[in-house]
Amino acid sequence: MTTNRTFTMIKPDAVESGNIGNIIQAITDAGFKIVAMKYTKLSTQEAKDFYAVHAERPFYLELVDYMTSGPIVAAILEKENAVADFRKLIGSTDPAEAEEGTIRKLYAESKAKNAVHGSDSDENARIEGDFHFQPDHCFA
Ligand code: CMP
Repeated sequence: MTTNRTFTMIKPDAVESGNIGNIIQAITDAGFKIVAMKYTKLSTQEAKDFYAVHAERPFYLELVDYMTSGPIVAAILEKENAVADFRKLIGSTDPAEAEEGTIRKLYAESKAKNAVHGSDSDENARIEGDFHFQPDHCFA
């Protein structure tokens, strides 16, 4: 199993604010290779399944509503130390706490509408990537 991949989504707020291009530029400038990418809209069931790990959290239904409110860009990215380096690039979950220059500091609105998703472990990167992409849609 490769451990140098991560999974991301550019979320509805960042799509709506016209920042798809800026965010992809920041990702590739940081040395990530795009292995798979698609522009899509999650169904309610897909969003519930994707975020099932948060099902008991008070913000779960708000999160599902938000993630189905508009299109997203989903992608698998490759780079040495991908999961940790990508989380550094995007910054803290809450943009108010994110470091200057991070994607969330630059483009996110709030903790809920936080512009991008980044996997939190190699295992979740594989699960989340598999959720969105068939192997024959990945180009290493
Ligand atoms: P993400 O990295 O995609 O993983 C879980 C998401 O839940 C997170 O980004 C936020 O969009 C959302 N989230 C986390 N904490 C809160 C919160 N306190 N209120 C609303 N949404 C949250």
